[in-house]
Amino acid sequence: MPHRLTAQLKIVVAGHVDHGKSTLIGRLLYDTDSLPTGKLEELQAVSSKRGMALEWSFALDSFQAERNQAITIDTTQIRFKTRQRPVVIIDAPGHREFLKNMISGATSADAALLVVDGVEGVRDQTRRHAYLLHLIGLRQLAVVINKLDMVDYSEARFRAISDDVLAYLKELGLKPEAVIPISARHGDNLANRSEHMSWYNGPTVLELLDRLPATAAPVSQPLRLPIQDVYKFDERRILVGRVETGSLNVGETLLFSPSGRTARVQKIEAWNQLDSPQNAYAGQSIGIILDEQIFVERGDIASRVDAPPLRADTFRSTIFWLSRQPLCEGADFMMKLGTAMTGVTVKAVERVIDTESLDGRNVREVGVNEVAEVVLRVHKPLAFDAAADHPATGRFVLVDGFQVVAGGLIGASLSDSEAMSSLSDNETISAAVRARRNRHCGAVVWFTGLSGSGKSTISVAVERELFRQGRQVYVLDGDVLRRGINADLGFSPEDRAENIRRVGEIAALFADAGVIVLVALISPYRVDRAIARAAAQGSFHEVYVSASLATCEQRDPKGLYARARRGEIADFTGVTAPYEPPEKPELIIDTAALSHAESVHAVIKYLNDRIVQTVEEFEVHMSGI
Ligand code: ADX
Repeated sequence: MPHRLTAQLKIVVAGHVDHGKSTLIGRLLYDTDSLPTGKLEELQAVSSKRGMALEWSFALDSFQAERNQAITIDTTQIRFKTRQRPVVIIDAPGHREFLKNMISGATSADAALLVVDGVEGVRDQTRRHAYLLHLIGLRQLAVVINKLDMVDYSEARFRAISDDVLAYLKELGLKPEAVIPISARHGDNLANRSEHMSWYNGPTVLELLDRLPATAAPVSQPLRLPIQDVYKFDERRILVGRVETGSLNVGETLLFSPSGRTARVQKIEAWNQLDSPQNAYAGQSIGIILDEQIFVERGDIASRVDAPPLRADTFRSTIFWLSRQPLCEGADFMMKLGTAMTGVTVKAVERVIDTESLDGRNVREVGVNEVAEVVLRVHKPLAFDAAADHPATGRFVLVDGFQVVAGGLIGASLSDSEAMSSLSDNETISAAVRARRNRHCGAVVWFTGLSGSGKSTISVAVERELFRQGRQVYVLDGDVLRRGINADLGFSPEDRAENIRRVGEIAALFADAGVIVLVALISPYRVDRAIARAAAQGSFHEVYVSASLATCEQRDPKGLYARARRGEIADFTGVTAPYEPPEKPELIIDTAALSHAESVHAVIKYLNDRIVQTVEEFEVHMSGI
């Protein structure tokens, strides 16, 4: 179980700037006895000096609010207690900060209060904020209709505005928990039931806050641990980050995206805990040590192997444009998503949504405060989620220089064919372009070893696993090829040389086409393997499947050793023909020492480390062109 369960409620107060948000917050602080000592007197003094009624919003000006340092966006957290629970108001100093904060999900709220002026009624900022709440998936909200003292606490006026808001919210698919008539200045229906509105019998604001359920800690969702930093101590590396959702245990295998590398958790370190815990849960900031020193960097997302985040370079998203400078197709920015930061290009502006009328327009330019659906292409592979499933890894901000110009939510990654259609007209389909789509480059993985050493069995299992991971992969097996393209060849040294030459050439073509091709051939002569290596031009990986002759002969899966010993097969490798083990293979798999599963894992691991890294190098190379 999570070690910290609390009924604390985090809320945001939304609405047009002049509709009384600060007054509402100030008055709530007063009514719940949350103002620091002397504050009330100070307020009274300031207000009377200015010759005006007590101005509750002044309470916020100098309120000792905690600054949230962890994020780039300025927000303050204001705390108070109702009779039943602690409440945190997440406040941002201005309209733009509010928008940035909300959309980037820098601080996520359980619920929102939408404030509407009872005199003025709904304004465009009201609608825009409501749209934003809808966009970020905040479904718990209540509407408060303020300043009713200024319209004689008129029920009719309240109903008219209430109907107006409800109609708009309904179009967005939002249904508020309550619509509460209040006067923030006089404290009507905040902590105390108003004497002026006997026609209203719904909850007061505090009653409502007591009754809203806090969003459950997202422990039951799939694990997402964005890596914040990697600390090196001697040989050891500690990966640190905050568990956004889910949980993890010591001993469990984690998948790191976008690289696809895996390793097991050897140790968890939690702050303020002397003993290293066995588990960690959503909300905790932790350090982990893995059982292997795989390459992990800031921005990677750790997940369970069976519930990984998405990996793509092109995706659709909804952005809220904040800059006065309009957004045009082709613009480049930096994108900050979770702990990752990468360059991004706006490939297309598909639709601009008018938050007033909720109509979509087919224009190619996005103006300030507009919401748009765009296609983005990041400059290096990135792990992320759809915002609807995982807000923490599905929301981002776009940065231009030092300025946040947009907040955005990831919709869906584009299918390969859609992403490819964004290829410019005369772009050649190079190895790099293929690698970008496949998210790995092509390679020749050459399994050599005695008959019965396990080449075919391992290559088929590796093929299955890589296929499952979404890789383009294919096995070329000696036995199979000898029935077709090499049916004219026997086992003399010359014929074997020709066999290997042909397979080497075919494998090189496959690799060039972007496929990871797994070749399983005895290929007993070093010189023949060297020729195959040369054909693959740098993408050759020799895997020596090593098992002693005695072991292979004992296994004798096809009964060939027995036949060779009886003299029924001539030139049989290991018996009457030589086998020259590789001198410097890229990988040795000793099938006598490793189990089948261990052998397969070792190959997969080797490949994921090499082949995916090479894609990143490609990308760096490409972005330098
Ligand atoms: S290679 O030496 O030319 O690379 P390749 O891998 O294509 O050999 O074929 C080996 C397979 O052919 C063995 O797994 C075995 O089933 C069969 N085979 C038949 N005769 C021989 C032989 N004389 N030596 C080795 N393998 C043979």
